[in-house]
Amino acid sequence: MRIGLIGAGAVAPYYATAARELGFELAAVCDVNEDAARAVAPEGAAVFGDHRELYASGTVDAVIVNTPHALHAPMMVEAAEAGLHTLVEKPMAISLEECDRMMQAAAEHSTTLMIGHIQHYMPDKLAAAAAIAEGEIGQPILLRDYRTTDYRPGGRSGWFFSKLIAGGGALMNIGAHCVDRTMWLAGSWTSAVSANTVGRHDAGVETDGMLHLQLQNGSTASITIVSDAPEYSDELVIVGESGVIVADPNRGTRSHVEGYTRTLWEPEGDPVEAAFTAELSDFAAAIAGVQPSVSVEHARHVVEVVLAAYQAAEAGQPVAL
Ligand SMILES: NC(=O)c1ccc[n+]([C@@H]2O[C@H](COP(=O)([O-])OP(=O)(O)OC[C@H]3O[C@@H](n4cnc5c(N)ncnc54)[C@H](O)[C@@H]3O)[C@@H](O)[C@H]2O)c1
Repeated sequence: MRIGLIGAGAVAPYYATAARELGFELAAVCDVNEDAARAVAPEGAAVFGDHRELYASGTVDAVIVNTPHALHAPMMVEAAEAGLHTLVEKPMAISLEECDRMMQAAAEHSTTLMIGHIQHYMPDKLAAAAAIAEGEIGQPILLRDYRTTDYRPGGRSGWFFSKLIAGGGALMNIGAHCVDRTMWLAGSWTSAVSANTVGRHDAGVETDGMLHLQLQNGSTASITIVSDAPEYSDELVIVGESGVIVADPNRGTRSHVEGYTRTLWEPEGDPVEAAFTAELSDFAAAIAGVQPSVSVEHARHVVEVVLAAYQAAEAGQPVAL
């Protein structure tokens, strides 16, 4: 499979390494900043400054859309029209209309569309998912997700602070991961959302937020995203009918049942790189016809929940889905 990577920013090196590890050919890299594209492109790969030229070049069979959020939908739709399979970074898009257009384009042109919800490939979360599937803690009932980030301007690309381009702030970006993983591990979509957000650092978008998700199966998830906290946290606590699992990519995954703790996964190597490799491998399998770990419907629902959270925060009351 010849892959083209569009967007040679912070995430791009993970994809380049994943392609190398899997023996896939990263045949082209595209970025409006061609120097950035050149820095990521392996020897012999083509470099483009315009994604349409990449699509027309015939150098690739599939593309990874790894660009600012508002570009996900238009770049994906044009790729499908060019007959290219697409792996699109999260969030799928910034509106449900765009999500629908993407799904329609993939169907119309018989191309594969997969959304890169990396959490489904993180080893700490996979260990939790496997233990839940084996009945280790019974049905998950309460989930608490606490994730820190840094939304001070200057700390990341400027477009993250434009609601028009990013679709929101910390909730659309980091919150999308938390919404995705809590629903996945609880085994249910969301029926109602309440939320509160705070905009600090003169960022122009929300920098912090708390979400309460009422899930369709009766479980609930509480998600807290805090910018510029004294300590980094990426901890997911899952309370089930008969035990608790705590998953953290930096501290490991443990279950605790009736006074006994069991280690389900211990940190080793770079879990994030391992996850990108597993995600790219899943994309290749999806092109070959295997059902990917994350459905596009699930990815669309993540966008739906984040947008409902903005609505709930604005209205000061829960929003039903
Ligand atoms: N999976 C994860 O863990 C993870 C982590 C961080 C970011 N992300 C997601 O990855 C995507 C990219 O984020 P990032 O942090 O790499 O952003 P970034 O700003 O570092 O990189 C984006 C790149 O896109 C390029 N670009 C902008 N417009 C373009 C255009 N029209 N054509 C070609 N290139 C263009 C920019 O020049 C830049 O190099 C986003 O969707 C983000 O939410 C995912």
